[in-house]
Amino acid sequence: MKKETKQYLSLEKQSEKIDSDRRSLLKAGALTCGAAILTGIPLAVYVVSPALKKATGKWFDFGSVEDLQHNNYTMLSYEFMVKDGWQVLPQRGFVWASVNTKGQVKVFSSTCTHLACNVIWQEEKRVFECPCHSGRFDADGNPIAGPPTRPLNVLEHKKEDDNLLVYLAF
Ligand code: FES
Repeated sequence: MKKETKQYLSLEKQSEKIDSDRRSLLKAGALTCGAAILTGIPLAVYVVSPALKKATGKWFDFGSVEDLQHNNYTMLSYEFMVKDGWQVLPQRGFVWASVNTKGQVKVFSSTCTHLACNVIWQEEKRVFECPCHSGRFDADGNPIAGPPTRPLNVLEHKKEDDNLLVYLAF
């Protein structure tokens, strides 16, 4: 009879130990989930937020459309500010614009679609040339030689009071 009681107590202790182990496991699981949430949310925000940010840009006024050359490209330069650490520095850029005899305006980015050097309009050859890797684009911005495979970017633009406004994103 005494032996049975001892065995009974032993089973009770085993049951308590199992309960204690289960509680420990649940506690560890809860702590792990909490840690994952605490580190995961900032990490997810850090990874996803750049994709959600809207590209900043603004309309630049390049003056009268009448100043553009007909069926030829004119270099139009602009200045913008770039934040570099704690400094804000002025930068220069330019676009290529032309107007045809019907008054239709075309504006291309000067950025080569290969590795982003600036393309230069060669009036006598009627091509845009990229000095970096000899990329070439025809007068419609299509790649015709060298490594670029995509056409020059056409920039959003409009006329206001006969002035040419171009939207530039940074
Ligand atoms: S950057 Fe223009 S051809 Fe390479």
